[in-house]
Amino acid sequence: MKPVVLVTRKLPAAVEDRLLRDYRPRLNPEDRLYDGDSLIESAAGADAIVACHTERFTAQVIDRLPQSVRILANYSVGFDHVDIDAAKRHGLVVTNTPGVLSDATAEVTILLMLGAARRAGEGERLVRTRTWKDWSPAFMVGTQVTGKRLGIVGMGRVGQVVARRARGFDMTIHYHNRRRLPPDQEQGAIFHPTPEDLMPNCDFLAFHCVSTPETRRMLNTERIALLPDGAVVVNASRGAVVDDEALIEALKSGKVAAAGLDVYNNEPNIHPGYRDLPNTFLMPHIGSATKETRDAMGFRALDNLDAFFAGREPGDRVA
Ligand code: DGY
Repeated sequence: MKPVVLVTRKLPAAVEDRLLRDYRPRLNPEDRLYDGDSLIESAAGADAIVACHTERFTAQVIDRLPQSVRILANYSVGFDHVDIDAAKRHGLVVTNTPGVLSDATAEVTILLMLGAARRAGEGERLVRTRTWKDWSPAFMVGTQVTGKRLGIVGMGRVGQVVARRARGFDMTIHYHNRRRLPPDQEQGAIFHPTPEDLMPNCDFLAFHCVSTPETRRMLNTERIALLPDGAVVVNASRGAVVDDEALIEALKSGKVAAAGLDVYNNEPNIHPGYRDLPNTFLMPHIGSATKETRDAMGFRALDNLDAFFAGREPGDRVA
């Protein structure tokens, strides 16, 4: 008998086709959002769940999941929506999809850097609302990206691709990571053992770390004060790494010239302060949103399921 798989969101057609071929999937053609209760109800009798970061697998939800569910194969690299300790307690296998979204996410980071530094949001609004009046030497002057210092927090797969792309803009790469990378991965990037060491070297600061209790609100008032005046902050990792009040204050004072954000605390109901500021360039969590990457994420999640049900260790097991 093919295993029953609850699929929490509508996935790309090629991924759903493979699910239909190899499993008995419970698909979600309307792409409706599950909350804790409806997740538990819909998982009745399922052997596995393919989930996204839009569902929260708290300890309470995991405690109440039917015992038949043995694996949670996430369609995401981030797994901060899953209480990993609770999963381990229940023997629930959890996997993610690393690697396949590095290029797409790095593209969005470069977009955020350029968009924030060159005031793309403001410019687009002017053109669209017919309020663009004139050209002048002082009009829409932003911050040049080329040749600047880029500080990257979290030099994993995505951080390293961002560094490679940024070198195309002659940027000097500084980074902070839990451990220093070997020279072949560092590629000349300058390691800083603490965020405090990194901050003064960041004309641009990009976050690519995972959201953990240690990285939560890593960008706070104290660390912002260590940035050079007029720095640009971008975030395509998780909103939780930023203290919103602190960043908004710094954007208002000009300490931070601009911010490019793709991820937020409490998505999609983000801190309203970001919307009101002219110097924010805001995207709706689209880091991995390319056809190629969304297919690859699905196939990676299914590779993990296939391995599990064939009695092998899934390649991307995180619990
Ligand atoms: C990820 O894979 O973590 C992306 O943020 C989408 O969930």
